[in-house]
Amino acid sequence: MLVTGLEILRKARAEGYGVGAFNTNNMEFTQAVLEAAEELKSPVILALSEGAMKYGGRALTRMVVALAQEARVPVAVHLDHGSSYESVLKALREGFTSVMIDKSHEDFETNVQETRRVVEAAQAVGVTVEAELGRLAGIEEHVAVDEKDALLTNPEEARLFMERTGAHYLAVAIGTSHGAYKGKGRPFIDLPRLERIAGLVEAPLVLHGASSVPPELIERFRAAGGEIGEAAGIHPEDIRKAIALGIAKINTDTDLRLAFTALLREGLQKSPKEFDPRKYLGPAREAVKEVVKSRMELFGSVGKA
Ligand code: G3H
Ligand code: 13P
Ligand code: NA
Ligand code: ZN
Repeated sequence: MLVTGLEILRKARAEGYGVGAFNTNNMEFTQAVLEAAEELKSPVILALSEGAMKYGGRALTRMVVALAQEARVPVAVHLDHGSSYESVLKALREGFTSVMIDKSHEDFETNVQETRRVVEAAQAVGVTVEAELGRLAGIEEHVAVDEKDALLTNPEEARLFMERTGAHYLAVAIGTSHGAYKGKGRPFIDLPRLERIAGLVEAPLVLHGASSVPPELIERFRAAGGEIGEAAGIHPEDIRKAIALGIAKINTDTDLRLAFTALLREGLQKSPKEFDPRKYLGPAREAVKEVVKSRMELFGSVGKA
């Protein structure tokens, strides 16, 4: 069933588990995420970026919304990193039930005003809103305190921001970053800062750049001819700790992309004579589904639907 993001996330924060927001751009990823959620009886969020909407157009948005409506578990259809009021309105017209307005690169006051405007529009049609405060940037452990303060979410500002905007959930910057290169070894994540934010903000908190970039997947990708440098993601134990501290929504895109592409490469390499795309796309879809399931187990959302 199609529900708002807040319906899913309020319960998650209250009960101390996390819910995955998985990015999709096509049929295979959408099916993988929804099948995993139904098989594990987990709530889930399907996230579409502006790039996804450009790539998949109406075919993608209509498919995602229709399948979410029919799903046997709660599903929110979410706009990931909405960059403007117009972009949010477009998602609202398409039937999304959750939108993100990302004005985190603007000054605090502009972020407040632009977010407030989006909250008013979304609320008028019963849709809930994610906002972001702080810069998503991989930073190293030994970086000076004032340097961290300049980039990462300030707890007191977060409290004020949520009060003034009325946003329903908040993406925090605590050292994670998008993509497959999140830092050397075990990438830094500022859990003490998260604890202070969570002490001041009651709303569900969101972790972007949360992919774990599993070493086995990187190896498989390389073995199939893929080229990738010193990839590293957020350690599963750090994700578990972040959830215990108040993270309710965990964004995952990179891990799914890696799994899909690794299996696609394997298939193409193994069967050079095969030109029925389903023979390659089927196993790649299955690999995405397996990653989604293992994330749901890590997040603790299994059986919570
Ligand atoms: O945070 C970004 C998501 O991974 C979506 O990426 O803009 O390439 O679709 P995209
Ligand atoms: P990853 O690149 O770590 O998967 O993060 C995805 C994300 O934050 C989407 O908004
Ligand atoms: Na998002
Ligand atoms: Zn993100």
